[in-house]
Amino acid sequence: KNIGILGVPMDLGQMRRGVDMGPSAMRYAGLIERLENIGYDVEDHGDVEIPQREKVASTETNLKNLQGVIEASTLLANGVDKIIEDGHFPLVLGGDHSIAIGTLAGVSKHYKNLGVIWYDAHGDLNTSDTSPSGNIHGMPLAVSLGIGHEKLKDIGGYGPKVKPENIVIIGARSLDEGERELIREKGIKVYTMHEIDRMGMSKVMEEAIEYVSKDTDGVHLSLDLDGLDPAEAPGVGTPVLGGISYRESHLAMEMLEEAKIITSAEFVEVNPILDDKNKTATCAVGLVGSLFGEKLI
Ligand code: ARG
Ligand code: MN
Ligand code: MN
Ligand code: MN
Repeated sequence: KNIGILGVPMDLGQMRRGVDMGPSAMRYAGLIERLENIGYDVEDHGDVEIPQREKVASTETNLKNLQGVIEASTLLANGVDKIIEDGHFPLVLGGDHSIAIGTLAGVSKHYKNLGVIWYDAHGDLNTSDTSPSGNIHGMPLAVSLGIGHEKLKDIGGYGPKVKPENIVIIGARSLDEGERELIREKGIKVYTMHEIDRMGMSKVMEEAIEYVSKDTDGVHLSLDLDGLDPAEAPGVGTPVLGGISYRESHLAMEMLEEAKIITSAEFVEVNPILDDKNKTATCAVGLVGSLFGEKLI
């Protein structure tokens, strides 16, 4: 039982400073000790090198910091690829959600039919045409579907990384018009806050697990901390009221652990500058504990 940790101090996918400190914040919150106490061998591979914001500034497209995101994603994809080749479970620490482009580029090479659970307030299904912000952290799921800028789609030298029928979004409550259209057009499975309230998290996860593991040979969990309610996870750059509770999130992680379907994971958008005494990183580390089978008794 081996876990390979890779930090990605990326903040180029959005405009708020501080999310590059997310990996440190999660390490300081005791991530590694926590996993070792469960019985895992943990190898911390340190952080991927992120180009400096000032050096990659460009006005050549409306995708902000495009060149920097391409460079970082390529390095990240290689790092994740190596961890899997070594037979270890890749656990990636963000960084803003644009890192999912690189993570999925590294992971999906190893699976014919990868499932993805996108735990998030947002769909991250924008393109340069539909994005209201130009921020690439609002685009990684679209990119991974093969929709978006050529150079982003081609990270790792292949694409698309995922099929629409292998994706389930959980916790959505802020979708842009273009994202809604894409969801309808591709028939992407979404459990919004409405379904979570109506059905309860237990039923949502039961269905989601069945849906995403049916015809897939691996499942990646991409967990954006803004999927949780900002009262419980305040250290995020794009908070949206009315989110998933701390307890519902633990239940979700525990059910994923019981189902034994998750083959890679990333925890993103922890921004210590916007946080309250490292509460959000601490929450993330608790969720990692549950995902890896931490038990009270
Ligand atoms: N939909 C908005 C945008 O495209 C917000 C995206 C937020 N994404 C995130 N990973 N927090 O700019
Ligand atoms: Mn090793
Ligand atoms: Mn989000
Ligand atoms: Mn996101």
